[in-house]
Amino acid sequence: MAFRQMNFYVILLFLVSLFAHQNAVHGWWWWHHHHQPLPAPAPGQAPSPWHHHHAYPDFFHYHKKIFVFGDSYADTGNSRLTEESWHCPYGMTIPRVPSGRYSDGLILTDFFAKRFGVIGPGPVPFQQWRKMISPFHLFGSSIFGMNFAHGGTGVFDTLVSAPNMTAQIDLFEQVMSSHYRGFDLNNSIALVTNSGNDYAAFMHNQDNDTVVAADLLGFSPKVTDQLVSNLKRIQALGIKKIAVASLPPLGCLPRVTVSNSYKHCDDTVGSLVDTHNGALSKSVGDLNQATANNTFVLLDLDKAFKDVLQGKEYAYRFPDSLRGCCVGKTSYNYCGDVDKQWRPLYTVCPNRLRSFFWDMDHPTMSGWEAVFERLLPTLQLLE
Ligand SMILES: *[C@@H]1O[C@H](CO)[C@@H](O)[C@H](O)[C@H]1NC(C)=O
Ligand SMILES: *[C@@H]1O[C@H](CO)[C@@H](O)[C@H](O)[C@H]1NC(C)=O
Ligand SMILES: *[C@@H]1O[C@H](CO)[C@@H](O)[C@H](O)[C@H]1NC(C)=O
Ligand SMILES: *[C@@H]1O[C@H](CO)[C@@H](O)[C@H](O)[C@H]1NC(C)=O
Repeated sequence: MAFRQMNFYVILLFLVSLFAHQNAVHGWWWWHHHHQPLPAPAPGQAPSPWHHHHAYPDFFHYHKKIFVFGDSYADTGNSRLTEESWHCPYGMTIPRVPSGRYSDGLILTDFFAKRFGVIGPGPVPFQQWRKMISPFHLFGSSIFGMNFAHGGTGVFDTLVSAPNMTAQIDLFEQVMSSHYRGFDLNNSIALVTNSGNDYAAFMHNQDNDTVVAADLLGFSPKVTDQLVSNLKRIQALGIKKIAVASLPPLGCLPRVTVSNSYKHCDDTVGSLVDTHNGALSKSVGDLNQATANNTFVLLDLDKAFKDVLQGKEYAYRFPDSLRGCCVGKTSYNYCGDVDKQWRPLYTVCPNRLRSFFWDMDHPTMSGWEAVFERLLPTLQLLE
């Protein structure tokens, strides 16, 4: 029985891998055929008692898992089917149909999982996992980790009704106690994004329209404090390495630069980003010092995005870098909108490989790939 389930799963996973991570297939092939010995536990790691009861190969226990928390910069399919990320033309590059990612293809989470050798489709989106049948409960989620990130969310409640970061960590805690019991989290990694939805919600919820920069700057410490307590909680739950993304340069998003015809980033928004990221960086440094074990690593998205958007070496790859590829036909439309006859109310640029931004807020797969190149040196700190 278990073997049949396993075969079913391997075949399914193989198909999924073909879509998601072409060269990840190797991992499965390798595992399935036992051509090489399974990785031995690190010294001092005792096999869990669950090992024998459930016949998990050691591989499952010690395989690195990725747990993801945050928003659309990390969400690989938790959002509801009504959200843009499930509408055409999202996903048109990979896997050629919408996959719940806010991009034309792979995003930060995918590159991150691949970098750390997490094979197969990467961390399973929680909302997909919870609807799935037993083989997935046994194997799918456990080996690759799980993604709790949900587009549009923040550390506080925002304009979408979806789990805020606290609620995402609650879900992780529940799944941990029911499902990952006995699994080794010692070499697992968390990825946390918080890309500005709290500020968007704050502006939206003001009684009057004249939100001044000072109001946002006043709100900023609340956001970073809440984020830091979330990070501490993830650490306390047993994850030993936690990558936390800074705010991206919000003043460079097409949503903002549309007002200057995509010519330059907005400095006022930039100073909010600087304040937020400065406080986050200091807190992360303090936390690492206090615990003396460098659990936290800051992924400086602000710098990485700007390096690509403004760097000479990327000027050829991304000409007109501040313009989005998929844009609404009018300022009221967003990428993915259609009219009553299902005719698109958006246009898609001819060459998305050479567009940094996909829609008004999110990079293309090609953009994420370039950002990821800039993050590689930092990622060594997570080894
Ligand atoms: C995980 O690491 C801790 C020390 O950091 C150790 O006490 C524990 O036994 C390890 N767990 C496993 C399952 O190896
Ligand atoms: C997060 O969401 C939960 C459940 O909806 C809510 O009770 C809690 O107050 C929210 N937390 C924050 C920090 O906004
Ligand atoms: C709107 O908010 C700003 C900043 O908080 C405040 O200075 C201003 O007086 C408010 N205007 C009205 C009409 O309430
Ligand atoms: C780092 O220190 C914190 C607090 O002392 C502890 O909870 C955590 O388990 C430690 N992590 C490692 C990898 O030793």
